[in-house]
Amino acid sequence: MATIIPVASFDCVVFGATGDLTTRKLLPALYYRYKDGQIPGTSRIIGASRSEMSVEAFRERARDALKRFVPARDLDEDKLAAFLDHLDYVAVDGAGDDGWEDLAAKLAERPDQVRPYYLATSPDLYGSICRNLSAHGLIGEKSRVVLEKPIGKDLKSARAINDAVGEVFPEEQIFRIDHYLGKETVQNLLALRFANTIFERLWTADVIDHVQITVGETVGVEGRAGYYDTSGALRDMVQNHLLQLLCLMAMESPLTLDANSVRDEKLKVLRALKPITPNDVQAVTVRGQYAAGAVDGKPVEGYRADLGGETASRTETFVALKLEVQSWRWAGVPFYIRTGKRLPQKLSEIVVQFRASPFSIFPAESFGREPNRLVIRLQPEEGIKLEVMTKDPGPGGMRLRPTNLDISFEETFKQRYPDAYERLLMDVVRGNATLFMRRDEVEVAWAWADSLLKAWADRPEPPRSYPAGSWGPTAAIALIERDGRTWHEEMH
Ligand code: BG6
Repeated sequence: MATIIPVASFDCVVFGATGDLTTRKLLPALYYRYKDGQIPGTSRIIGASRSEMSVEAFRERARDALKRFVPARDLDEDKLAAFLDHLDYVAVDGAGDDGWEDLAAKLAERPDQVRPYYLATSPDLYGSICRNLSAHGLIGEKSRVVLEKPIGKDLKSARAINDAVGEVFPEEQIFRIDHYLGKETVQNLLALRFANTIFERLWTADVIDHVQITVGETVGVEGRAGYYDTSGALRDMVQNHLLQLLCLMAMESPLTLDANSVRDEKLKVLRALKPITPNDVQAVTVRGQYAAGAVDGKPVEGYRADLGGETASRTETFVALKLEVQSWRWAGVPFYIRTGKRLPQKLSEIVVQFRASPFSIFPAESFGREPNRLVIRLQPEEGIKLEVMTKDPGPGGMRLRPTNLDISFEETFKQRYPDAYERLLMDVVRGNATLFMRRDEVEVAWAWADSLLKAWADRPEPPRSYPAGSWGPTAAIALIERDGRTWHEEMH
């Protein structure tokens, strides 16, 4: 078990304190860090939202949230009570003038604390909250602002948000969250690539045939139909999470792990992504929308029924793309990526398929002569698997078959994997921005996404339907099979 080093004492103000993100993710993450002794006892978590509420009522809400979202085995009554004592509350109108004096008075009680302002609100409020913080003299050297996605819905709106926040916070104090970067297994990609010589030497177009990135979800749009229908899978998942995974796979070695070195390298990958034009949109992209079907053996409605019977929506709930990173290292190596709601499994996985051996000394009847494959499982059943060819034991000639060198993180480390938000929140307090997105990264990713959104908008056909519980429209299978390749789950 690693030694836990406490962070500096802080006052974290959470705007959107009664919202879903705070309830499901932020309070549980802070509870775990407190329970493990990483949060000093002089710290406060100050909920802020428009509702008038007493501190006791906010603590009661938080207690309910923790009982719902933290497994009972991790809820120690004494620790829970002690944690709730660190919660405070102020009613503040993020868009107006009310409540700011109260917040200022509360913060003035402890002027030397590190001060993260977590904006778990609609992005429409980011600008006005930041202006108010500045107008009330609440921004100092130890302040940081944390922005949740979506940061805009295209390049223009992302710039407007970045401009508004950038007017009052310098870039080093802005922490843009992509929670995929906080996942242990995603950080492990850095370790895999840059702490091992055996992979890095092979990480080139000479040896790698192609890369697949899959992020599948079994859930539909749940209670978020209003947001989701104006977003869709490209904006919700690809522009941020999948592109970030692609960056970590494709980037050159950063000089150090410091925030700007890592982000400089990721930025180069984003800049090297070939824009998708109207001419190639049909050949290299597939959009899908789920229809009724079954997931985990249970019947589920289609997307339009989930929207409440809205029949005309053309929003995609599935995307498959063939991408090119235009660089010396990656020329000619396609990156096939796909993500969708209502797929058969919740699964995030990266598959690196190496080239086939150039020549076989084995007789034709040796069966499989499959190329090596490295499978990096990000969630669930986290681990790394390298498929190598071996001889089938026993008599009967030289028969070959693929066998796995298999590391299961659960069996190897036998410890709880902290949620992404635990690491990210502590990094905010520490002022370490390595796992957060810099302004230029977000904007270059949007510029790329905009060209694809525009190419789609110019086409008349709606997204292709796929039954809930399938791996997306058949066109997504054709997208990769046209190139003589197959998606990983079809390989065996
Ligand atoms: C969020 C998206 O950013 O990521 C959601 O808005 C999606 O639509 C979620 O469900 C997936 O995250 P995770 O951690 O469950 O893989």
